[in-house]
Amino acid sequence: MNPYEAYEQYQEFDDYQTEKNAYRKAKQGKKKPKPAEAVAQLSDFDDSLAAWVPSYAAALDPRHHERHWLIESLGPFYRNNVITDVTHRVKSGKEANVYCCTAHPAGGVELIAAKLYRPRLLRTLKNDAIYKAGRQLRGEDGKLMKGRREKVALAQKTNFGKQLDMTWWIQNEFSTQQKLFEAGAAVPRPIGHNGNAILMDYIGEEGLPAPALIDSAPEPGEAHDLFALIMDNVRLMLDHHLIHGDLSAYNILYWEGTAFIIDFPQMVDARVNPHAYELLRRDVARVCAYFGRFGVRADAERLARELWLPYMGSIA
Ligand SMILES: Nc1ncnc2c1ncn2[C@@H]1O[C@H](COP(=O)(O)OP(=O)(O)O)[C@@H](O)[C@H]1O
Ligand SMILES: [Mg+2]
Repeated sequence: MNPYEAYEQYQEFDDYQTEKNAYRKAKQGKKKPKPAEAVAQLSDFDDSLAAWVPSYAAALDPRHHERHWLIESLGPFYRNNVITDVTHRVKSGKEANVYCCTAHPAGGVELIAAKLYRPRLLRTLKNDAIYKAGRQLRGEDGKLMKGRREKVALAQKTNFGKQLDMTWWIQNEFSTQQKLFEAGAAVPRPIGHNGNAILMDYIGEEGLPAPALIDSAPEPGEAHDLFALIMDNVRLMLDHHLIHGDLSAYNILYWEGTAFIIDFPQMVDARVNPHAYELLRRDVARVCAYFGRFGVRADAERLARELWLPYMGSIA
């Protein structure tokens, strides 16, 4: 079973409500699986991983599909000595869950954030023509990414095709984050990826993840510096032909007086996306609106124009 198939099992798990209902239904069901049965079901998933039950998963009901999905998705990182445990879920979202992992001591960091995407991410991105434009089937180097067999699988929308599509998005996102990190951008250091997961430096402390900027209140002096940092990063991204596309105080983490930009699946290539300028304007406008509340005066339209015109000049 691959993470995609594990996810199919997990799909009923949507939010706490579903979780509760599922549990209630299971409780009311005529046939209550005995613990031994549940363990047998679990070992059906993947024998080689049956031995690894991270502490967060151990606290879940053994019938809970999140447990299988987590183990299937993060097991390879455990086997490769990247992580040793998953301690808790930081956030559960529509398209992804973020978990806090204990890093293997060899990695040089204590904690790792694992973002696990649900297949729904693909649906959202694909339905959104703005992000889709100019992106399908081409890697960031402009080369076609897939061979004939893969194209057929995608066209037929087989499970293999869907898994492949997800893998492609994840790979793209990971290499984008890596390129930005290497260029000195304020993004968490990417650590690894596989079919549906991206691992990166965890920002914050165990049990105390960095809050998003929207939940923080920087001092006026600090707000100016943070604003300058974010705008420098928007420029740096554009230097690499990238526009975040969903930049706002929700996707910026604030920690120890500095900030980290996160959440890149919808990034667009400014060279090919016809909506690039529109997205840049929106990103800049949202950043300006947030910092405006903390005394930073900025003309978003002018800033976006001042970024865009030289950029267009440089690629013309
Ligand atoms: N590297 C990280 N370190 C600590 N927490 C993180 C990290 N990445 C994400 N998070 C947490 O997960 C939340 C959601 O992450 P995000 O990438 O924005 O996913 P979503 O697609 O759900 O918006 C963030 O607001 C933050 O609380
Ligand atoms: Mg987000």
